Amino acid sequence: MSSIKIDGHRIDVLFSEDQISERLKSLAVEIAATKPNRLLVVPVLKGSFVFAADLLRAMHHAGLTPEVDFMILSSYRAAMKSSGKVDVLRDIDSEIQGRDILLVDDILESGRTLAFAKDLLAARGAKSVRSAVLLFKPGHLAASIKADHCAFECPDLFVVGYGMDMAHQFRELPFVGHVVKED
Ligand code: IMP
Ligand code: MG
Repeated sequence: MSSIKIDGHRIDVLFSEDQISERLKSLAVEIAATKPNRLLVVPVLKGSFVFAADLLRAMHHAGLTPEVDFMILSSYRAAMKSSGKVDVLRDIDSEIQGRDILLVDDILESGRTLAFAKDLLAARGAKSVRSAVLLFKPGHLAASIKADHCAFECPDLFVVGYGMDMAHQFRELPFVGHVVKED
């Protein structure tokens, strides 16, 4: 397994740039096969911004023509443990009545973030609300939600990179990695 060192942290690569880009191509084809109507893609920021940017371009190559709007939700704050509470820090301003919505998030863990966003958009009259996640971490689901499209199943480790952070660090890494404590 390859790893890099940043500021005294060792970061082991879990999913490489190449693996992610290959997988996103098939994910986009899978999404296109659902034949969405007036598709609005809603990345749930901040952690999903790199995944969403790459997925949207893969969706273009798969023949889709979505609109995009952003939501900022916070359930983690700067801590490594989920607080269980979800706050809307920024809402979408697009009309969603009767539209097919695709929520895009980095990780599905307890499911509270996605379940919250899904309920919110469904209550506003979306025709359908589906979800695409980069990673699914099994074993922690607290909300009854399943990702409709998932790139990778992830081991039960705290991961960073490809948009995801640990206390605001490491979002710029082009791969998904695990921070290993070294003494
Ligand atoms: P859920 O509401 O428990 O499903 O939490 C999912 C959110 O928690 C993700 O969108 C991430 O922002 C954050 N999260 C969960 N696990 C990790 C991790 O290993 N690294 C970084 N963020 C994480
Ligand atoms: Mg998130």
